Amino acid sequence: MKLLITGACGHIGSFVAEHIHKIKEIKETILIDNLKSNRHSSLFNLRKKSKKRFYIRDLNNPKSLNDFKNVDFIIHCASMTNAEKSFGKKNQMFSNNINCLKTVIKYCKSKKVKLIHLSSTSVYGKQADIVDETCEKKYLKPQSPYAQIKIIEENMLKKESKKLKYTTFRFGTISGVSKGIRFHTAVNKFCFNAALNEKILVYKTALHQYRPYLSLKDAFKVFKFCINKDFFKNDIYNALSENCTVNQILNKIKKYKKNIKVALVKAEIMNQLSYHVDGSKLKKSGLSLNAKIEKDVEETLNLFDYLKS
Ligand SMILES: NC(=O)c1ccc[n+]([C@@H]2O[C@H](COP(=O)([O-])OP(=O)(O)OC[C@H]3O[C@@H](n4cnc5c(N)ncnc54)[C@H](O)[C@@H]3O)[C@@H](O)[C@H]2O)c1
Repeated sequence: MKLLITGACGHIGSFVAEHIHKIKEIKETILIDNLKSNRHSSLFNLRKKSKKRFYIRDLNNPKSLNDFKNVDFIIHCASMTNAEKSFGKKNQMFSNNINCLKTVIKYCKSKKVKLIHLSSTSVYGKQADIVDETCEKKYLKPQSPYAQIKIIEENMLKKESKKLKYTTFRFGTISGVSKGIRFHTAVNKFCFNAALNEKILVYKTALHQYRPYLSLKDAFKVFKFCINKDFFKNDIYNALSENCTVNQILNKIKKYKKNIKVALVKAEIMNQLSYHVDGSKLKKSGLSLNAKIEKDVEETLNLFDYLKS
């Protein structure tokens, strides 16, 4: 079977490209990215264990996928993704991310390709208690343009429900190491600061509040499950490895790096606040996610091990 990964040079896409030989059904993978994020290094030394080709394509062009034939699945990772920076770039992010999904939907509909769409648990925003996928519209409180766009994307797919097969996964904040790793999200950023002996800046209000995290290893498990089990339900599933407080993340870092410096700062973005996300819908469907964020912390810190000497 043939897989196409959009945004293949990004954090998640590059991890999937590197490990795709572990999904036996996939005999050939097409990788596409517009390289605007300059992560060419994601393409270095990809394992030859399965057939892969990379193409520079910008999904703002609605015809950018048209020449790819006999594709069975798309994992759609192409997106502008920095939630915190999305405040200053709302229009650009809106137009890019919606255009990307439009191009992918059009292609999937016309070629009968099954789609894995990635949303984010940040759609829940500031919530008091545990939240799940049945959460009423009025309780979806996206706290950034990035998260607002994710809800629009989810609704675009719902409207097309009769015309294509897809599953939307609301991923927790990703932890772990990939070739296209970024350091702007919580776990990775804290590990980077700790490794460099820099102050870790933590939003005052967020220290003891829960947020959902997803290890890259579990993200891959989600894709494998979806493809192996033909899990295209035209529905939305939360995907997370653990709900943790920022303080718990800091304690995981302290296990490997004793003396870290933490400074509490004013919150710029509300979704840094607490929400406990329920992952049981996916579990009931047959997929348990249990990777340890602590292992990702260790592996991320190890990237900078040479700094210790
Ligand atoms: N990383 C996380 O913590 C996280 C959490 C929840 C959901 N997600 C979602 O998962 C998906 C992938 O995230 P990621 O962390 O890998 O993002 P990323 O920013 O690391 O990678 C996105 C890639 O998409 C490419 N891209 C952007 N616009 C494009 C376009 N018009 N045409 C072609 N390529 C384009 C970029 O060049 C980049 O390489 C996104 O939809 C993101 O919102 C990520």
